[in-house]
Amino acid sequence: MIESLTIRRPDDWHLHFRDGDIMRGVVPYTARQFARAIVMPNLTPPVTTTALAAEYRDRIRAAVPQDMRFEPLMTCYLTDTTDPDDLARGAGAGVFTAAKLYPAYATTNSSSGVTNVELIYPVLERMEQDDIVLCIHGEVTDHDIDVFDREAEFIDRHLNAIVATFPNLRVVFEHITTSDAVEFVKAASDKVGATITPQHLHINRNAMLVGGIQPHNYCLPVAKRETHRLALRAAATSSDPAIARKFFLGTDSAPHMRGDKESACGCAGIFGAPVALESYLTVFEEEGAIDRFEAFASLNGPAFYKMPVNQETVTLERIEAPVPEELPLVGETIVPWHAGQVLNWKFVG
Ligand code: DOR
Ligand code: ZN
Repeated sequence: MIESLTIRRPDDWHLHFRDGDIMRGVVPYTARQFARAIVMPNLTPPVTTTALAAEYRDRIRAAVPQDMRFEPLMTCYLTDTTDPDDLARGAGAGVFTAAKLYPAYATTNSSSGVTNVELIYPVLERMEQDDIVLCIHGEVTDHDIDVFDREAEFIDRHLNAIVATFPNLRVVFEHITTSDAVEFVKAASDKVGATITPQHLHINRNAMLVGGIQPHNYCLPVAKRETHRLALRAAATSSDPAIARKFFLGTDSAPHMRGDKESACGCAGIFGAPVALESYLTVFEEEGAIDRFEAFASLNGPAFYKMPVNQETVTLERIEAPVPEELPLVGETIVPWHAGQVLNWKFVG
């Protein structure tokens, strides 16, 4: 049995830092494990321009502890009125690494999102020309569509059309939760990749709804039935490199204070950053795929984003590691992913 694993330093290709004190409180958890992270722009107000993103990046950089090296990669929040020139300028200047499509009202702070995907086709055309990555929250928001069907429906209604209309646009189908999404990504060209969160590899919807409602297992897209979880695990850990390389690590770590989760209208989001690598590695070990973990965590994402892989390494050791029930944050508490559980791996640096 392998006792220790050293891999190239990974990156987190999708997460939420928020802003202000919360941001300053959560950035160190990510900077400890990861070299870079794609930072979501769903602040209030959202990060819609190059200027806002550059300022936000400065605030994040200032929150990185002195002894850590970490680079935030910024995203532009697309709206019905995004200016393609500003986006292209920001990307050209190295401020934006990607742009994010939130269908309006799909999730936390998405009310300024896109009301009709076709409205931003001119922006997508420019992104295709300039080779700017499009990150997608792939859920329809129509009230007649069941919440468990919203991802599959997004593929049918929008994603097929997007990739057909813009065949050279690089698209990340983010935090996928269904076998439908896995099949879509597998069948798509190399321009299409997907991130997978730790929670969607660990839990199905029972973990949210059985034995009382479990707000700390609630995120969007919601966890689906077991068959979907198994499809995600098979994709992430696939022994076929042509399949595996399309899928990469993106925690979707999304801090919400305990009180906002344990509420009559609890917020969507799971705070995965404190135990991100331990959580993923547990899955890869269960699937007999520890040797494929480095590709998922540290190689596939940089290859897709056309960025260099990191030169430093990190090590995880097989040590029983209890996860705290809660962590202090801004004078309150936050419940981390795997709270109260004992993991078999520990990040040692
Ligand atoms: O669960 C989620 N939380 N899903 C998202 O898409 C957004 C995120 C957040 O910002 O809290
Ligand atoms: Zn997210």
